[in-house]
Amino acid sequence: METKRVVADFEDWREAVAKAVALLEDGQLVALPTETVYGLAADAFDAEAVAKVFEVKERPSFDPLIVHIGHKRDLDLVAEVPEELAEVVKELMTAFWPGPLTMVLPRKADVPDLVTSGLETVAVRMSSHEVMRAVAKELPVAAPSANRFGRISPTSADAVIEELGGRIPLVVDGGACRDGIESTIVAPEMTDKGPVLRLLRPGPVAREDLRKIAKVVRPKRTKEDHIEAPGQVESHYAPATPLILVERPEDFVPEEGMKYGLLSYRGEGNHSLVEATDWAHLEVMSPGKGKLAEGAVRLFYCLRRLDAAGVDLIVAESVAETGIGVAMMDRLRRAAAASR
Ligand code: TXA
Ligand code: MG
Repeated sequence: METKRVVADFEDWREAVAKAVALLEDGQLVALPTETVYGLAADAFDAEAVAKVFEVKERPSFDPLIVHIGHKRDLDLVAEVPEELAEVVKELMTAFWPGPLTMVLPRKADVPDLVTSGLETVAVRMSSHEVMRAVAKELPVAAPSANRFGRISPTSADAVIEELGGRIPLVVDGGACRDGIESTIVAPEMTDKGPVLRLLRPGPVAREDLRKIAKVVRPKRTKEDHIEAPGQVESHYAPATPLILVERPEDFVPEEGMKYGLLSYRGEGNHSLVEATDWAHLEVMSPGKGKLAEGAVRLFYCLRRLDAAGVDLIVAESVAETGIGVAMMDRLRRAAAASR
């Protein structure tokens, strides 16, 4: 299959959206830009199309997908918001939608089981990217990140082609993703003391922002030690090259004859790791002063470049765990865990 690319720029983005909608209505898959990462979209109510998503991604079917809606009122199409949570859900929508927040809520019965992996809940978000939003206004789409299972999420149309070229008919090129890291996932819950937000995946909407709405709590661990967001297995977001995360520069001791690549936060003059070793490849996320948001946008891009550089080991520098730095460290720890 040839993968076509249409550029959704100023003049012809509506045409690009129309092409995407036509394919989706025909039961086919389309990669679409969002403000976080590119998504691989299927009509959320077409179980056969959703099945293709798992096939194309080589994704185990126990991992549920996020449904993207285009209007706040469309939440009712996929989720059954309990009376007691109506207030907090409304506040979250007002504060963060459209934007990089996903809510896990009780599902509507007619959402295909494949979308939710048979769970009683569904994950829903409303993207702020005009292309994804315009498509989702026409039909709700189930869209996981447009990478093959266990690999780095794509933040550009080129990265999507690298991952899924030849497997899908269309990629809508909406430029580089603004946030560059997957959405924050919360499950709102009611307790004796009022509503709480269970943080299932850190992302661009920071804990500090969520706290303004309700208390934020950690994911539950079940007896089998499965965490609640089933896709949140340790091995996610991994480059093919082994990666270690270095919390302090002195933790890294190079070995003779190895080719190392460094993922640096601020680059030269800012961290003793940069000067300490003869790096075969260096990627800097936010050169100079260092801005976490810029680092987040470039994180997956830099990881892809390092992965392509042919080094034996990627050494990743830690970043401050505040704001979006929490999500960055979450992804880096998972990448490191996958290399063990
Ligand atoms: O930013 C994003 O969220 C991107 C863009 C494309 O929207 N999408 C994305 O999807 O990251 P994906 O499939 O790569 O990650 C979705 C995560 C998985 O970890 C999955 O397990 C979790 O959401 N999830 C989905 N439905 C869930 C549910 N009902 N309960 C708990 N976790 C759920
Ligand atoms: Mg993913």
